[in-house]
Amino acid sequence: MPSVKNKNILVTGGAGFIGSHLCDGLLEKGASKVVCVDNFFLGKMENISEALEHENFVLYKDDARHFGVMQSIMEKEEIEVVFNMATIALNYSFFNPFDAYMVNVEIANTLLELLKVGVYKTLIHTSSSEAYGTAQYSPMDENHPTDPTTPYAAGKAAADLMVHSFYKVLGLDISIVRPFNNYGPRQNSEGSLAAIIPATARRIKEGGMPMVEGDGEQTRDFIFVKDTVKALILAYEKDESRGKIINLGSGKDISINSLLRQICEYFDYKGEWEHRPARTSDVRNLCADSKRAREILSFIPEVSFEDGIRMTLDWYKNTFKG
Ligand SMILES: NC(=O)c1ccc[n+]([C@@H]2O[C@H](COP(=O)([O-])OP(=O)(O)OC[C@H]3O[C@@H](n4cnc5c(N)ncnc54)[C@H](O)[C@@H]3O)[C@@H](O)[C@H]2O)c1
Repeated sequence: MPSVKNKNILVTGGAGFIGSHLCDGLLEKGASKVVCVDNFFLGKMENISEALEHENFVLYKDDARHFGVMQSIMEKEEIEVVFNMATIALNYSFFNPFDAYMVNVEIANTLLELLKVGVYKTLIHTSSSEAYGTAQYSPMDENHPTDPTTPYAAGKAAADLMVHSFYKVLGLDISIVRPFNNYGPRQNSEGSLAAIIPATARRIKEGGMPMVEGDGEQTRDFIFVKDTVKALILAYEKDESRGKIINLGSGKDISINSLLRQICEYFDYKGEWEHRPARTSDVRNLCADSKRAREILSFIPEVSFEDGIRMTLDWYKNTFKG
């Protein structure tokens, strides 16, 4: 069974939310080198401030789409494993749909080309539950049809098809993980690409009001980021995951109204909510069937939503100025 210990590992998007926690997790597990490649579209230096202290961490401010750049980094750093975490957040679909789609496809294309010619050995590719679109049945297993509702999600689904087909035709060493909604410290809280939990915490801390789009009864399956990191590492370490798509979720869905109520309760906020029209093409329901992750990765999320949301909001409370 392979192990991340003593491996030279590259993380695309390693200065982002999940990628930075993954870099920390790989360093903790004894990787000999963790190479972060991030173009800082949304990545932040503060996300990798702990990793930067570590002698085994290397940062490249570069674009993971570029074959030549990635090839020279991988050869110089003698990379064996790549975790593909780079993307541009879903909401970018509403401003620049073409790039929101293409970034997912182009990075996957570059990584597959480099894997094909043997520049590195193993690709752990990250998909998204958004590739499924709204639940046609629930919980959603990996055989659920993909019916993306945004260019971001279409780019994810297209990249998954490409990655999976390369596994089938060339027998390359590839696993695909499909996380549901992640939450935890370091998620983007600013501007139009912000995620709902940090954006709401910031609004309340800065004297604003929570904002809900549509009726708020849309549901999501939230998984704590450190659980996702454990599962990503297991996806590399378990050979049985090769050629598979594996959901990473909690198996429980929560409505956005219920989520916002819990955030309000934490901050003791009793004021009004701002109501905006439903976003066009917002997915209505997402809830993971996690059987495959249990069977193949022996993975069960350890952090309950109650504990995870408290830890997350504690972190944002201390991070945002009131
Ligand atoms: N956050 C979630 O809830 C969630 C859910 C399902 C799947 N995912 C997937 O997990 C992965 C990580 O998501 P995240 O939430 O950490 O996103 P994020 O936006 O916080 O991180 C993505 C990182 O990729 C970087 N990036 C973008 N384009 C790049 C490029 N061309 N070259 C190099 N770096 C580039 C960004 O600067 C950013 O640091 C993504 O593949 C995403 O689709 C996330």
